[in-house]
Amino acid sequence: MYQIYPRSFRDSDGDGVGDLRGVRAQLSYLSWLGVDALWLSPIFPSPMRDFGYDVADFVGVDAVFGSLEDFDDLVGAAHEVGLRVVLDWVPNHTSIDHPWFVEARRSRSSEHRDWYLWRDGVAGGPPNNWVRAWSDQPAWTWDDETDQYYLHCFLPSQPDLNWENVRVRGAMHQTLRFWLDRGVDGIRMDVVHLLGKELTVDDAEELRMLSHVPLNDVASTHGYLREIRAVLDDYDGDRVSIGEVYLLDPDRVADYYGDGDELHLSFNFAPLHIGWRADAWRDVIVRTQAALEPRDAWPTWVLSNHDTPRIATRLHGDEQRVRSAMVLLLSLRGTPFLFAGEELGLEDAVIPEARVVDPGGRDGCRAPIPWTIALDHGWPGVPWLPFAEYAGRRSVEAQRDDGDSMLSLTRRVIELRRTRTALRHGTMENVQSDGRVLSFDRMVSGERLRVTVNFSREEITGLQSDDHVLLSSRRHRGGLLAAGEAVICEVKS
Ligand code: GLC
Repeated sequence: MYQIYPRSFRDSDGDGVGDLRGVRAQLSYLSWLGVDALWLSPIFPSPMRDFGYDVADFVGVDAVFGSLEDFDDLVGAAHEVGLRVVLDWVPNHTSIDHPWFVEARRSRSSEHRDWYLWRDGVAGGPPNNWVRAWSDQPAWTWDDETDQYYLHCFLPSQPDLNWENVRVRGAMHQTLRFWLDRGVDGIRMDVVHLLGKELTVDDAEELRMLSHVPLNDVASTHGYLREIRAVLDDYDGDRVSIGEVYLLDPDRVADYYGDGDELHLSFNFAPLHIGWRADAWRDVIVRTQAALEPRDAWPTWVLSNHDTPRIATRLHGDEQRVRSAMVLLLSLRGTPFLFAGEELGLEDAVIPEARVVDPGGRDGCRAPIPWTIALDHGWPGVPWLPFAEYAGRRSVEAQRDDGDSMLSLTRRVIELRRTRTALRHGTMENVQSDGRVLSFDRMVSGERLRVTVNFSREEITGLQSDDHVLLSSRRHRGGLLAAGEAVICEVKS
């Protein structure tokens, strides 16, 4: 699964912001790379205070990205080349500009008042101790007109919807059907663990763990997820529901798969927070398997996204480590999510103060994709964010025909994954770490592939000597595992 942040992918009209025609123009690149599906971060009409995650209309396309017709063209063209399209749906909140909220805040007796979460203050302050994302400020904003607070787990301009209200659920299901009717292959659901709300829950303790929003991991959410799943299941073909469940404990995440009747796939963000340590990776892998296997639930893996510094930045640009991280991502059991640009080894851009635009401080990882070596990197206008360092060297043009490039490596691992059943859906066994080297086996009957990743900065001898090396993250020398090397071997037994 390949994540596209549309603003930063490809600009077809020169306004400095990527768009749907731009994505369409690059479908041949995505097929060449070998991904199966693309996920588009939100494309709906939005005032862009959270760059599309503040939705003003769930059933349209923002003019900056193009039109509904461009969207239909993109889906049609993607399907023609065998690529599936997954949309980012933002069910937890709307923009304050959404007509529902505009009407809701007009008066306490508004028809849509109860579509959001309004409360009186407590002891002269907000109704509870929840803190909104990216700040130490309350998750509540006072509305002078109607003398009540409204809840917003994110920006004050992103009021939370009240999912307890059956009319909200019905209306949101309708928006989903709108896109499913147009042929989308599934949805990535934003912060879906927040849908149910227990406003009495005191999250202060757990919040210290996560600089994110209230955890609010409550029972009612599961009922809402089952209803959403039923909407998807009404449609022909495989329509996938992927949830952003921002809880770092794999056991809690596992609950969101339900009994096979909630999410098909849930994000598992633990790896974003563990650094580059073999033991830590082993622990996360083992815990994830232990949590999901009893439910027959299929894992997902991710190294980067539009909210987090890129893996190459977290690894301080250490090329060998960045390469082996890619081999690891693509050989774990589960669906890997590749964030556009990760296949280029792209690092975050350094954003000068004057160009900071995101209130959450996430501009760096959203830098535009460099397509060409030339200074404009294939962007016809000045892009909305600066390019990352070494953009020319890391551009698609610079790497495409270089067999040793990060891009070629990524393509080779995807290809191997496609041709080897063990990598695609084999079991994952013997997950081990000695503190320097992580290894595990991917198996189907008659086939055992061993993945070995050297996390250390030393060369390690005595490994792999009898095994047949199918792929290495660098030029492999028999019997040795170089510093930072990752290899996939076929083990003959
Ligand atoms: C999710 C998105 C993030 C957004 C937030 C609020 O965490 O990934 O980009 O800001 O939800 O919608």
